[in-house]
Formats: sequence, C-alpha cells, structure tokens
Amino acid sequence: MQRLDTFMADALGQYYNNRDPFGVDGDFTTAPEISQLFGEIIGIWTVQKWVEMGSPSTFNLIEIGPGRGTLMSDLLRGTEHIELFHEAMNTHLVETSETLKTKQRDTLKNYNVQWHDHLSKISNDLPSIIIANEFFDALPIRQFKYNDGTWQEHYIDNKKTTWIDVKNPPIKSTLPSPQHNDIFEYSKIQEDYTRLLSTYHGAFLFVDYGYKKSTFGDSLQALYKHKSCAITDHVGDADLTSHIDFEWLSTFLKESIIKTQSQFLLENGIIIRYQHLNNPELTSGYERLMNPDEMGDLFKVLEVINSKI
Ligand SMILES: C[S@@+](CC[C@H](N)C(=O)[O-])C[C@H]1O[C@@H](n2cnc3c(N)ncnc32)[C@H](O)[C@@H]1O
Repeated sequence: MQRLDTFMADALGQYYNNRDPFGVDGDFTTAPEISQLFGEIIGIWTVQKWVEMGSPSTFNLIEIGPGRGTLMSDLLRGTEHIELFHEAMNTHLVETSETLKTKQRDTLKNYNVQWHDHLSKISNDLPSIIIANEFFDALPIRQFKYNDGTWQEHYIDNKKTTWIDVKNPPIKSTLPSPQHNDIFEYSKIQEDYTRLLSTYHGAFLFVDYGYKKSTFGDSLQALYKHKSCAITDHVGDADLTSHIDFEWLSTFLKESIIKTQSQFLLENGIIIRYQHLNNPELTSGYERLMNPDEMGDLFKVLEVINSKI
C-alpha cells in the first residue's frame, strides 16, 4: 500500500524521465508549445522587473520545470535587443528529467545556461527573476476526505483507491469548514518550494491551472495520449496533475497578486505583439492562450514581488 504522494512521486519520476510528453505525439501541450507569444510576453515582463529592480549589472534568471526549453528560448530571443539585459543575466534551469535536459540543451544551444536539480542549488545572494509554467501542477499531492467528523487519507492499494483514518491532517488555514465527503489536497513539496522561494529577493511568476481561492474538491487527473484515464491506469506512462491552490501558496509569500492568464498577457502587451507580428499562423495559438473558455481563465498567474528588491 502506498500513500498517494509516494505513488505519484514514483509514477511521475518514471513518466518525466522516460519521454518528451509534449505535443500531438505526447500526452498534453502547454502554453509555450502553443505559441511563441507566451514566452515573448513573459520576456517583456522579465525585462520590466529587471528595470524596476534598478537594472542590476548581474542577476539570476531562473526557470523551474522548463519542459522542452521553449519558453526560455522565446524569452531569450525576444529580449536580445535590450541593452545590457543579457550581459547582466545568469540563466539557470531547474530540471530533474535527464531526457528533458537533453532536449533543453539542444533548444538552448546558442545560450549560456546552467542546469540544477533543485532551486536550493542556486544561491539567493543575487537579485533573482524566477519563472515556472505548469511546474507546481506536476508535483505530488496528498488527499484528505472528511467523513462524519473524522479525516481519512487517500492510499493506493493494489491499483485501487482506499481511504485510511488519520488523526492530524495538514489542514490549510485558507479552507472553509468541511462538510461530509469534502476532499482537500495538500502538497508538501509545493509548500517547501514556495517557502524556499520566499528567501530569494526579486520577482517571481508562476503560471498554472488552479483556484484563485482555496476550495474543497478532487482535482487529481491522469492523462494518457491526450485522453483522461484512471490514475492507476498506465502508471509511469500517464501524466498526473492537480489544480493549484494559489490562495494557500500565497500565504507563504509576502506580496503576491493572483490574476488570470489572459489578464496577465493583456497587461503585458500581447495584443501589440500579436498585431506587430501580423502572422495569420499565430491566430489559433493567440486565441487558445487568451480565450476564457480555453486557457485564458482556467490558467492563473501568481506574480510575486519580494519586497527586498
Ligand atoms: C508539465 S511540464 C511543464 C514544462 C514547461 N514549463 C512548459 O510549460 O512546457 C513539468 C516540468 O517540470 C519538470 N519537473 C517535474 N518535477 C520536477 C521537480 N521536482 N523539480 C524540477 N523539475 C521538475 C518536468 O520534468 C517538466 O520539465
């Protein structure tokens, strides 16, 4: 029998280490793979934060969970003309998958990039701009169910879900009082990562699908070749994700703002960039990123300005 987070850690480790999961031949696609506009607009945001920080002559640009390296590639290409920006930048990628690291090395072969397997390996002495797209949703979670006044935890036993009584679940301060059968999700690794981030000074941007306000619900999903399946089907071959509780994560950070992806992209000039490029091939990607019924509202952006800037 395995606790859900242990089961997920094993399955996800196997999953990301053995494949490139993106695109039509994979299991899912992400915003940077849909349109170059996504990485370019994050590039504009990054330059703006660097300027607000007083254009330091050296700073760390860090991406956590960079997938194929597409977002970073679009960001770097789109900001090449900004005077002194690239000269000041030390670029770091935090990635655990060897397969994806190989892919990233290829995508970013024209740039000077350093790789790490954990954020803690990068010193927090320098000003930092840290970005992550769909990183938190790929981290293991635990699930707890309220059952007539007691709490039970999700375990996997012989490929089946089972709920076991627990005494002291890690109840989140941001949740309302539970009703019978309410489920909440908790991720120690998300909490640890967010606490660690708060020790860096600079600006952070996290994009993921999830809730602006803490809520009960079972958001765990498995995806195999673009179709949903049970979490115990295709173990190690299916992607497992959950929705991010942005309100809860922001309790570990000093100053943060949560907005929708479309709001963030609009504020940072996506319309101007799209019109300037004037390329009909970008239209369907632009619409997928922005449409409230597609990624526009479902995806949220957590923007953090650490007051030590
Ligand atoms: C859903 S993908 C998102 C990829 C990319 N950001 C994008 O938008 O296309 C999750 C990424 O996080 C990486 N990852 C998963 N667990 C990780 C961990 N514990 N530490 C660092 N990277 C991790 C995966 O290998 C993959 O690159």
